[in-house]
Amino acid sequence: MRKFLIAGNWKMNCTPSEAALLLEGIKEKKGEVSEEVDVLVCPPFVSLSMAVNYLHETDIQVGAQNMHFESSGAYTGEISASMIAESGCNYVILGHSERREYFNEDDELINKKIGQAISNDLAPILCVGESLEQRKAGEQKMVVGKQIRAALEGINTDQVLNVVIAYEPIWAIGTGETATPEQAQQMHKFIRDLVSEIYDSDVATSLRILYGGSMKPANADELLSQPDVDGGLIGGASLDADSFTEIITIAEKLS
Ligand code: PGA
Repeated sequence: MRKFLIAGNWKMNCTPSEAALLLEGIKEKKGEVSEEVDVLVCPPFVSLSMAVNYLHETDIQVGAQNMHFESSGAYTGEISASMIAESGCNYVILGHSERREYFNEDDELINKKIGQAISNDLAPILCVGESLEQRKAGEQKMVVGKQIRAALEGINTDQVLNVVIAYEPIWAIGTGETATPEQAQQMHKFIRDLVSEIYDSDVATSLRILYGGSMKPANADELLSQPDVDGGLIGGASLDADSFTEIITIAEKLS
C-alpha cells in the first residue's frame, strides 16, 4: 500500500518570521504523524534551514520549490540541488505550472532538473497539468502524457522510484475550483498506466501521484479516497496551520 504524502507548497509567501509562526502552528498540532502519512512543507529558500532545524525532532520533512539544473557555477541568483540537499531537504518541487508559465520552463529544462535532483538524493515532485483551454478541447491526457514522457526521458527504473508526480490541473490552482474526484481519479489512473507503460507495473504501483489544485479540508476526503490519489500538493490551504493539519488528519483516517 502506498503511503499518503501531504505536501504544502508555500509559494512566495511568508517572511522568515512568518514562516516560523506557521511552522509553530503546524508542529503544535501535528508534530507527530501516523506512520501511514508523510508530511512535507516547502517554504521559500530563505527559510529552509530554519525549517529543517525547527522540525528536526518531528515527523515533518522539508522541501524546496525549485532549483537550477546545473550543479554549480556562474548563475547569479540561482540555487543548486546540492545546496538544497545539504540544507537538510528531502524533496524539491519541479515543473510547477507557475514556473512553466512565468519563467518559461519547458519540458527539456525540467528533465535536466529531475536528473540533477535525483543525483543529489532529492526526491523530485514533478508537476504536470493542463490549462482550461486544453481541458475544454479534451486534450488533458495528451498534454499530461507529453509532459511526463519528456520530464522522465533518460531517467531509469531505479531513479524513477524517487519521483513523485503531482497532477495539478492549472484551472484548479488557486482558483477555488477543484477537479471533481472522478476527474482527478481519471487522470491519476491515466498517469499510473503511462508510468507502467514507460517502466513497468511495479514502478507504477509504488509511484506516488498527488493531486494539487484548491485542495482543502472540505474536499480532501473525497479526493484522497480515490484509489489512485496518493496525497496532495497544497498551496493556499497549507498557509493556514489549521487547514493544513486538518488535511493531514483526514489522510491519517483514510490510511
Ligand atoms: P492551491 O495551489 O492549493 O492554492 O490551488 C496548489 C499548487 O499550486 O501547488
